[in-house]
Amino acid sequence: MKITIDGQTIEVEAGTTVLQAARMIGGDSVPPTMCYYSKLKDCGGKCRCCLVEISKGSERDPRPMPKLQPSCITAVQDGMEVKSASSPRALAARKAVTEFLLINHPLDCPVCDQAGECDLQDLTYKTKDFKSRFIENKVTTPTEDIGPYISLNKNRCIICYRCVRLADQLTNKRVHGVLGRGDHAQISTYIKNSIDNEFSGNMIDVCPVGALTDKTFRFQSRIWFNKKFNAHRDCPKCSGKVTLWMFGDHIQRVSARKDQWHEVEEFICNECRFDHKQVEDWTIEQPRKFDKRSVLNVNNYTHPTQKVQLNMDNLTLEGRASDREKISMAMITYDSRELAAIKKTKEE
Ligand code: SF4
Ligand code: FES
Repeated sequence: MKITIDGQTIEVEAGTTVLQAARMIGGDSVPPTMCYYSKLKDCGGKCRCCLVEISKGSERDPRPMPKLQPSCITAVQDGMEVKSASSPRALAARKAVTEFLLINHPLDCPVCDQAGECDLQDLTYKTKDFKSRFIENKVTTPTEDIGPYISLNKNRCIICYRCVRLADQLTNKRVHGVLGRGDHAQISTYIKNSIDNEFSGNMIDVCPVGALTDKTFRFQSRIWFNKKFNAHRDCPKCSGKVTLWMFGDHIQRVSARKDQWHEVEEFICNECRFDHKQVEDWTIEQPRKFDKRSVLNVNNYTHPTQKVQLNMDNLTLEGRASDREKISMAMITYDSRELAAIKKTKEE
């Protein structure tokens, strides 16, 4: 099947979605995603971040689709023509969706552990001329203890359902879900059950915002201060392939490896994620590479480090000279009692 997105034509197999075709093309044509997750089944269609304009339905029925369509759940038709980055309507709608998602999302990025790898933060920064018009009070929900490993901050949740799908598909019993609808919707465990399945830690990785964060890493570091390494271990439960987030020789966090779309490559078990924080537990492969524009690259030494030359002599010595003058003992006169004491010490 042929599909043209922003003037670029590609052939794809039947059943491919517009988003998947856009990802094959790459570049600016790829719509942002907050709820779709390629590694999970039945994911997508919740957030509306990936809206595109379909200017030609198909070869057989070339009429344009009157409404913008979510690309993550729209199947490609032969001869379809789509406008993504080239559609002012789609861009305006995505901007409106971003504003909508931020209505109740707290702006606590400076203290949120997800800062630097938050899809909503990235989306907001990438949205041209973004401005929120919301002046009302945000809806807040009380926090809830959901177990020893995962911290839940409901206020940050954007109800994308990724963690719900993950719990359905990766763990043997799901104990959490979205309760209520509309303004009352909230992610919660049923009757305060705790989430303790062997693969539950992957919810932390799939959560696009800071609603689910790693309790063992919470407030330990900003992630751009960590050195990131690919590492593996022999694990009977999962592939054992992880990213280590290190501070010096100390492993502060273990996470699954993520691809260029910020999606987990292979899900890992809780034992690898939470119980192996010693360097000896892992075979370290190489520094992990990230998108070159990502804040995660700050402090990442896969980049050659530049030698910094400071003009020490003039500035520092000038400062030191004036300091020395200010605190010089010669400027402070002794009184007679002090002089007598000095004389006495010398005589002794
Ligand atoms: S907790 Fe995170 S992954 Fe789960 S629904 Fe909310 S935003 Fe999505
Ligand atoms: S990514 Fe398509 S609707 Fe959310």
